[in-house]
Parts: sequence; C-alpha cells; structure tokens
Amino acid sequence: MNVLVTGGAGFIGSACVRELVKSHSVIVVDNLSKGRKELVDSKAKLYEVDLTNQSALESVFAENKIDAIIHFAAYKAVDESMEDAVKYSDNVNGTINLLNAMVKHNVKQIIFSSTAAVYGMPDKDVIDEDTETKPMSFYGFTKLNIEQLLKWYHEIHNINYIALRYFNVAGDAGLHYVDPAAKNIFPIIMEVIEGKRDKLTVFGTDYPTRDGTAIRDYIDVNDLVDAHILALTTKYVGIINLGTGEGYSVKELVVAFKEVTGKEFIVEYGDRRPGDPATVLASNTRAKEILNWAPKRDVKEMIKSTYEAYNS
Ligand SMILES: NC(=O)c1ccc[n+]([C@@H]2O[C@H](COP(=O)([O-])OP(=O)(O)OC[C@H]3O[C@@H](n4cnc5c(N)ncnc54)[C@H](O)[C@@H]3O)[C@@H](O)[C@H]2O)c1
Repeated sequence: MNVLVTGGAGFIGSACVRELVKSHSVIVVDNLSKGRKELVDSKAKLYEVDLTNQSALESVFAENKIDAIIHFAAYKAVDESMEDAVKYSDNVNGTINLLNAMVKHNVKQIIFSSTAAVYGMPDKDVIDEDTETKPMSFYGFTKLNIEQLLKWYHEIHNINYIALRYFNVAGDAGLHYVDPAAKNIFPIIMEVIEGKRDKLTVFGTDYPTRDGTAIRDYIDVNDLVDAHILALTTKYVGIINLGTGEGYSVKELVVAFKEVTGKEFIVEYGDRRPGDPATVLASNTRAKEILNWAPKRDVKEMIKSTYEAYNS
C-alpha cells in the first residue's frame, strides 16, 4: 500500500512511519514546524510542505500514487490554542485541503488523530465514544470540527475514515524522542529528575479516588502505532477511543517513576486545579472489538523508555 503520513516527522507520526516502512511505501508531509527531519525513516519520502499550502499539497498528490492517509499533522498545545485561534485554524484548513485533494485524486481512506480533549469534562469516569463531546479548548474544538468534516466527506464523497481519539500518550518508540514540550506529567517529572525543576507539584489530594489524587489513562506510543497499522486494514467508518482503560493516580505514578528510574525527587502536594476532573479513563471496548487491538505495554514500560530517551 502507498501511505501518505501527514505530521510524519513528529513524535507519534515518526514512530508510526518507522513501522509502516516495513511493509508499505510511505510518503511523509510535514511543515517541520515541530517535527524533525532526522526522525523520519530514510525509506520514507519526505516533503516539507504545509497542509495549508494547497498547490504544494496538490504536487504531492500529483507525483505519488496514494492509497491511504494517516493524518497526524496538527498544532496540539491546548493553552496556545486559547491564545492563537488563527494558528490553530490551520488544523481545520489544512485538513480541508487534504480532503479536497483526496476527492480530486480518488483516495478513499483516512485515519485521523483525534483526542480525548473533544470530550471536555464529562460527568463520568469511563468515557465511551458515545459520551457527549464538549471541548473546553479551541484545540479540542478543531479536532471535533475535523471529525464532523470527515463524516460529511464520507457521506458526500464516500471517503472512509477512522478517527482515533487518543488519551494520554507516553513513552518512546525507539527513536529516543519524546515530545519535550508535552504538557503531561511524564515530561514534567523528567524535568524534576533532571534538575530543571526543583519539585513536582501534585494538584489535589482530596479527589474521590483510591488515594485522593487524580487518575488518568496513559497509553504507550508503541501501542498507539499498532492501532494505526491495524486501522489501515480495517473496514470501519467512525470513531474509536485509544486508551488502556486502566488508570494510574498521580501518587502511583510518582512511586512507579522512583522505582523504575531509581531516582528520588521532591513532591509537593497542593490544591486542586480548576477544571481538572478526578478520573479520566477510556472505554476501549470498541478498539478491541473493531481493530482487534489491545494495549500491551504498561506504565512502567512507558517510564523506562521515556527515561532512556532523555538519557540518550
Ligand atoms: N501526543 C499526545 O499526547 C496526543 C494526544 C491526543 C492527540 N494527539 C494528536 O496526535 C497528532 C500527533 O501528535 P504528536 O504528539 O506526534 O505531535 P507533534 O507536534 O510531535 O507532531 C505533529 C507534526 O505535525 C506537523 N505539523 C503541524 N501542523 C502542520 C501543518 N499545517 N502542515 C504540515 N505539518 C504540520 C509538525 O511539524 C509535527 O511534526 C496530532 O494531531 C495531535 O493533535 C496527540
């Protein structure tokens, strides 16, 4: 299969390309705003193109036969999206260009990187795909908006899509690269271990959870990649959550980090942050049934590979 991977020079995209090149011909489109050339496997063909540049994108489609697309390219910082809607509107505008090129060149399959951020703050702990979507950031809105575009292009132009809603992605895929600007707790703890921060602040110790701290669903980037490869050969149209369904509390994560890395660090306990739910877990029944997928790596493996990536 000839697979076009947008955002294939980024954290998850480059990990996916590395697996894809083993059995597919891969074309990468990335504007390198965040991604790095050296992360792209040398067997893939890289185009430094911004998806909002319609004519440059058109050239990629004209020069290559494309059977399917995995669409990772996006700006993804929640806070920044609340300050710069113009920049984040590129997520939507770039996708419209991509979909229009698909129509023109008769490409019928797309796998899209969506996010649990489309759910906002649901009033239940375990979130399935039918849970109401109420994004609380412009970033989350752009992803939901793209999901809706995919639905319409499916209806009107028969483009088949799977939108994969990722929960908290962590770990390294062997490229020794973890997103250093990620806002989740993994890089924050790594910065504490490395001495770039003096302590870890845990926000909230009185949540209705087993130890009072917030519980989240962490998924290994390698498991995420597996799901994309399976999605490429799955005849299904719609939305699928990708999470383990098993949560780790912040306190549990701290213990696991200390155990796996052998490093001690200072932990300070503070008040809850407004807008942080107690527990966020994915229901992954659909991913198991439809993709025949199951997460294989646990939090300790994610910590180990993250630690090794930072140290290499
Ligand atoms: N990392 C996570 O925890 C997480 C969670 C949920 C969803 N996602 C989604 O997964 C996808 C990949 O995330 P990631 O963590 O690998 O991020 P990343 O920033 O490492 O990768 C995104 C890539 O897209 C490229 N890009 C951005 N805008 C572009 C444009 N207009 N044209 C061409 N290239 C463009 C960047 O240069 C980068 O290489 C994103 O769509 C993100 O929203 C990530």
